[in-house]
Amino acid sequence: MNKKIALITSGGDAPGMNAAIRAVTLQAEKHHYQVLGFIGGYNGLIDNHFIDLNCHRVDDIIRKGGTILKSARCKEMLNPSGPNQVVDTLNVNNIDALIVIGGDGSFKGCQAISAIWQGNIIGIPGTIDNDINGTDQTIGFWTAVETALDSIDKIRDTANAFERIFIVEVMGRNCGFLAVESAIGSGAEHIVCKEIIEDEVQFIDHLLVNINKAIKNHRTDSYIIVMAENSLSFSAHELSKKIERYTGVDSKAAILGYIQRGGSPVASDRVLATQLGVAAVDAVKENKTDIMVGMLNNSLNEIALSATSYSNTYNQAIIRRLNKLNFNLG
Ligand code: F6P
Repeated sequence: MNKKIALITSGGDAPGMNAAIRAVTLQAEKHHYQVLGFIGGYNGLIDNHFIDLNCHRVDDIIRKGGTILKSARCKEMLNPSGPNQVVDTLNVNNIDALIVIGGDGSFKGCQAISAIWQGNIIGIPGTIDNDINGTDQTIGFWTAVETALDSIDKIRDTANAFERIFIVEVMGRNCGFLAVESAIGSGAEHIVCKEIIEDEVQFIDHLLVNINKAIKNHRTDSYIIVMAENSLSFSAHELSKKIERYTGVDSKAAILGYIQRGGSPVASDRVLATQLGVAAVDAVKENKTDIMVGMLNNSLNEIALSATSYSNTYNQAIIRRLNKLNFNLG
């Protein structure tokens, strides 16, 4: 049977989303399915705004950052009217399946639609935060780490030249993975993320003592602390002032911000996006629904959309990884 698929990218854009759009489109063509790409995430589904996707439209997009379908965080999906309007659009266009490339918030939208629509709904994890259960990595994560490393390496040059302390704040929303991998990969001296803070006051005391020790022992010319956004009750700039007061050493904060969301996807994101795009269409073919496709231990994995929210398992994974690799991380 020929099927009609609606496809969106939703939430924070992530490098590799275009690669996933391409894979969905090409795999759908292979099965003689039609793909409508709705523009601007759920907003496109509410407004019935779409383009037909085919091999020509997705030609040469695998290497491009951003998303050709555009993205948004759609507030209307939080009210019952949003999902109802989406279902109207799906029905008007005779859609059989909805594939959503996005993160946690986007998958909540899928669940709201699933409660009132009979078609197949498949999620593909796309976010730089890597805060989704059921997949080792989300599409865009490794590119964001790579971008952070490029910036931290540059900050290291100036930090060494001035013998300064730097706090580099990375994104991640409420998840420390981006900070952990960026800290390990850049050889940072310390990491700050929610998952390893039990008591903020004690944590900061320990941090200050560690920095002082490192400075006294001349272990390094500079000291870099990679900090996940939202991990403390105060800002990276305030932390740098505290450190400067305590150590007497020049301390600066650098917030990397949105540069981590852009850029051409690295190889692992392109490959992951391609594998998951193909798997999502195959799941539609097999009449599966309410699942997200991911990769766990190098194997394709399917998990209920209702079980994809960031959980404690990730805290433990981060701590285990840190304990194994902490040559110098505090
Ligand atoms: O989810 C991706 C992300 O970049 C987070 O790391 C960050 O906290 C958030 O999006 C920023 O969202 P917005 O672009 O809506 O401000």
